[in-house]
Amino acid sequence: MATLFKSIKELIQVRNEPISFISGKEMNVLPTIEDAFLVVENGLIVNFGSMDDCPTDSYDNIIDATGKMILPSWCDSHTHIVYAGNREGEFVDRINGLSYEEIANNGGGILNSAKELQETSEEGLYQQSSKRLEEVIQLGTGAIEIKSGYGLTTDAEIKMLRVIKRLKENYPIPIKATFLGAHAVPTNFKNNKEGYLQLLIDEIMPKVADENLADYVDVFCETGYFSVADTELILKAGKQYGLVPKIHVNQFTAIGGVKTGVKYDALSVDHLEEMREKDIAILKGTKTMAVALPSCSYFLSIPYAPARKMIDAGLPLALATDYNPGSTPSGNMNFVVATACIKMKMTPEEAINAATINGAYAMGLEKEVGSITKGKRANLLLTKSINSYGFIPYSFGAHQIEKVYLNGVEIK
Ligand code: NIG
Ligand code: FE
Repeated sequence: MATLFKSIKELIQVRNEPISFISGKEMNVLPTIEDAFLVVENGLIVNFGSMDDCPTDSYDNIIDATGKMILPSWCDSHTHIVYAGNREGEFVDRINGLSYEEIANNGGGILNSAKELQETSEEGLYQQSSKRLEEVIQLGTGAIEIKSGYGLTTDAEIKMLRVIKRLKENYPIPIKATFLGAHAVPTNFKNNKEGYLQLLIDEIMPKVADENLADYVDVFCETGYFSVADTELILKAGKQYGLVPKIHVNQFTAIGGVKTGVKYDALSVDHLEEMREKDIAILKGTKTMAVALPSCSYFLSIPYAPARKMIDAGLPLALATDYNPGSTPSGNMNFVVATACIKMKMTPEEAINAATINGAYAMGLEKEVGSITKGKRANLLLTKSINSYGFIPYSFGAHQIEKVYLNGVEIK
């Protein structure tokens, strides 16, 4: 099965050589080919170049992309799309003056979602979650990471991870699973956090590993949730089970979690709304990706991660949605890319690099997706007719996608 896309106005994020990620000044460079062709065979990108060199072979499918652009699908490296119900009530409470912290302290927040998820059947959870996955695929996401962390009991955490596994089996999109048992201390362990950590390490983690349900381990390292010492415990145990760390840090307070992430070779440290100079210095030159979640800052009205400072200091940066019921009920990567430009002063080139190749790296998928490179999956976005790729973030709140392809197949 071979498809030719011809007369593409601009083919975006072309990387002839495989790369892991892009950092610092390089992020402002987005290689493209104007008036291009692209050939997809058996789901993979097999050839591309200038129309002047377009092969004259016969194809099963020829798509005329005159006036349109093609770029690799968005890579969303941080989501919580497996959840039950919603927290619209808390949204209104916040409008009326309560803070996210006050709501959490009153038993709302993550514990509210955990209660609802515990009461939802695996089938019901799958139905709710698959709708969200289909929604974000239509919005251009072509690789995704999904976390547990709204279970907070052995059964409910395993239920979440089994739902992720089922999504993986039933949808043509690469999915990575993260075990986030240390998301909040459940009510029954309210005065016994050590007991909960023990449960996570001695009971839940071995089960997760036994059923091979997760690739990564995550912790909400934050004042009032899990301390740096707690984070160390979980990461150390996770590594023994082959789970690579990817952690929530510096969302509301900077308590030293970035250093711990780097110490345990975290693949990524995510949120980073509160960054100290020393946190930036610690990340420099490491293999740990910084991941910013601008939709979360937007929805909670908290600071944005200091992208300019981080990129100017030479760090790599990825962008992800954080799609979850409490802090970011949106999985729209187009909005993330626009918000990164508008609020974080990233250039369109930096934002697109952050949302494609760097996002792919932040979920260990940089060999599979995230750029137009021979041998990678043909997970692609075909835009509407637009004059330049800067129009993608410029037209915020809308999107410029006409069609999405996963493994070269149009998703309707
Ligand atoms: O990434 N920060 C921790 N976890 C989620 C939100 C959790 C919730 O409010 O349900 C996040 O923002
Ligand atoms: Fe999150």
